[in-house]
Amino acid sequence: MFKDLQLFFKEFKSNFISTGAIAPSSPQLARAILKPIRKRPSRPIKVLEVGPGTGAFTFEILKLLKVGDTLHIYELNEKLFSYLNKKIAAKLKGEHRIDVQLLHTDIRTLKSGLKYDYIISSLPFVNFDSRIFCEIMDNYFRHLAPEGIISYFDYILPHRLRLQFLKPGEHQRVKRLLTTMKSYLRRHQVAYDHVWLNLPPASARHLKKPLYTEIPEKIKNN
Ligand SMILES: C[S@@+](CC[C@H](N)C(=O)[O-])C[C@H]1O[C@@H](n2cnc3c(N)ncnc32)[C@H](O)[C@@H]1O
Repeated sequence: MFKDLQLFFKEFKSNFISTGAIAPSSPQLARAILKPIRKRPSRPIKVLEVGPGTGAFTFEILKLLKVGDTLHIYELNEKLFSYLNKKIAAKLKGEHRIDVQLLHTDIRTLKSGLKYDYIISSLPFVNFDSRIFCEIMDNYFRHLAPEGIISYFDYILPHRLRLQFLKPGEHQRVKRLLTTMKSYLRRHQVAYDHVWLNLPPASARHLKKPLYTEIPEKIKNN
């Protein structure tokens, strides 16, 4: 636990943009983010975790998986990847009945024929620009099963306080990003929870594909 904190803080200082937090997420945030998986069906499921860091969610996800399930994990940061790789190997001890793959890869390269039942994303979206946010979210939706759920969190910071942390040139970027995020939430959010016991407090958000995006031609012409 102390090692997790130490490494996370070190990476926060050297890679602020991609790490995006000063400490790993709390067990309370993990519980809120993993609410949908706890109601998983009994058939084998496919899960994608993005940005696991030191594994605050990963080991909780593993507790919910069964034989035949799949967990793919994408981590960009090399030090966090190596650290987590060792922790997962120690946990699984050569157990292969769950297909767990940890990849040292940028999620923006994700291109597979797989459709995931659950996508758990910890990316620090607020540090990205709105174009990259849309690119990643749209790719998540392309890789989501029809009834699948995307879960992610954002930090609860009063707007005035957030502005204190930004350089003057960043105000426009963040304003655009927050507007874009809100439009995704309006279209897709099905549930959310505020979690105060986290540093900083956060909102866990759960998104689904809309029932349909447009009426298929076949039906329109009937
Ligand atoms: C806010 S931390 C969350 C870590 C952990 N899930 C937690 O909640 O404690 C964000 C994580 O996303 C990773 N990350 C950032 N950009 C990424 C990308 N493009 N592809 C994959 N991982 C990325 C960072 O290296 C970091 O581990």
